[in-house]
Amino acid sequence: MRVLVTGATGFVGGHLVPALLAADHDVSVLVRDRAGYDGPDDVTVFEGDLLEPGSFDDALDGVEAAYYLVHSMRAGPDYAERDRRAASNFVAAADDAGVERVLYLGGLGEERDRLSEHLKSRREVEHILADADFALTSLRAAIIVGDGSASFEMVRQLAVRLPVMVTPQWVDTPCQPIAIDDVVTYLVRVLDVPELAGRTVEIGGPEVMSYKEVMARTAEIVTGRRPVIVPVPVLTPKLSAYWVNLVTDVPRSVAHPLILGLKNAVVVQDDSVREYLPIELTPFETAVRRAVGDGADTPEPKSVAAGER
Ligand SMILES: NC(=O)c1ccc[n+]([C@@H]2O[C@H](COP(=O)([O-])OP(=O)(O)OC[C@H]3O[C@@H](n4cnc5c(N)ncnc54)[C@H](OP(=O)(O)O)[C@@H]3O)[C@@H](O)[C@H]2O)c1
Repeated sequence: MRVLVTGATGFVGGHLVPALLAADHDVSVLVRDRAGYDGPDDVTVFEGDLLEPGSFDDALDGVEAAYYLVHSMRAGPDYAERDRRAASNFVAAADDAGVERVLYLGGLGEERDRLSEHLKSRREVEHILADADFALTSLRAAIIVGDGSASFEMVRQLAVRLPVMVTPQWVDTPCQPIAIDDVVTYLVRVLDVPELAGRTVEIGGPEVMSYKEVMARTAEIVTGRRPVIVPVPVLTPKLSAYWVNLVTDVPRSVAHPLILGLKNAVVVQDDSVREYLPIELTPFETAVRRAVGDGADTPEPKSVAAGER
């Protein structure tokens, strides 16, 4: 099948492209800077910017299915407005080109639970993409465990660098981390299931746990010790974002919206995708071990607690 991947320079897109090639698809990618794209040789590269209508139409010519894996959080606080515009521009161009199917990967979380700005924006993009002529499959996931995932990187660096953490109470919120390998398997195989065109599917790993547990287990796997995590009611998300900024190298523009999202439970409610794709899910520990590799880039733990900063 002729498929286009947008967001191919990103974490998910970077893992997806080789998997689509391995599944014998004819793969093209849309990137903003051709010179900065280091993908496989047998991919057709188109340069264009979703914020500039007309700059990416050629990428959609003859495409049967497109993956929408774009978000602008790294570009700063007005990401929601940019993501809204990018999705609208994409819908107009994809409908003009007659694209039949689009697959989008967004976030889990219940709209009735007052989603954070970040999750609300991801859901808004989903709604914009759903209001198109093409059939949209929206996949929703919580934190994706893999090397290069901004959310997992934040967890990993906090867990490894801080033996003692004073955290907001929201670390008790439940989530359902999923391995990048499983996300990629779903994204590739959903293409073979026509019944999933036009549907929203929720995907998650085999274990539901609190963010506290995610951090503690990650630290244990990487360093062999479990950190002490002390949730306190007085620590606001804003303050947390400051110390995450001090402790990790995840940019504040990314860390802040992600921390605000910790208040929302992100757990699969409807696992009907498994009727069609009963893939074997990667255990959390295996996913973490794959993500950190030999741990060679693991920084030395710092000896101060988050609350002391
Ligand atoms: N990572 C996670 O834990 C996680 C969890 C659940 C869901 N998701 C969802 O998965 C999707 C992909 O996330 P990710 O982690 O792979 O993100 P990412 O690494 O930040 O990648 C974002 C991609 O969007 C591209 N992009 C941004 N603005 C663009 C524009 N105007 N035109 C064209 N391309 C543009 C970027 O290209 P440049 O290189 O040019 O900047 C980059 O390739 C998102 O929808 C996200 O919500 C991720």
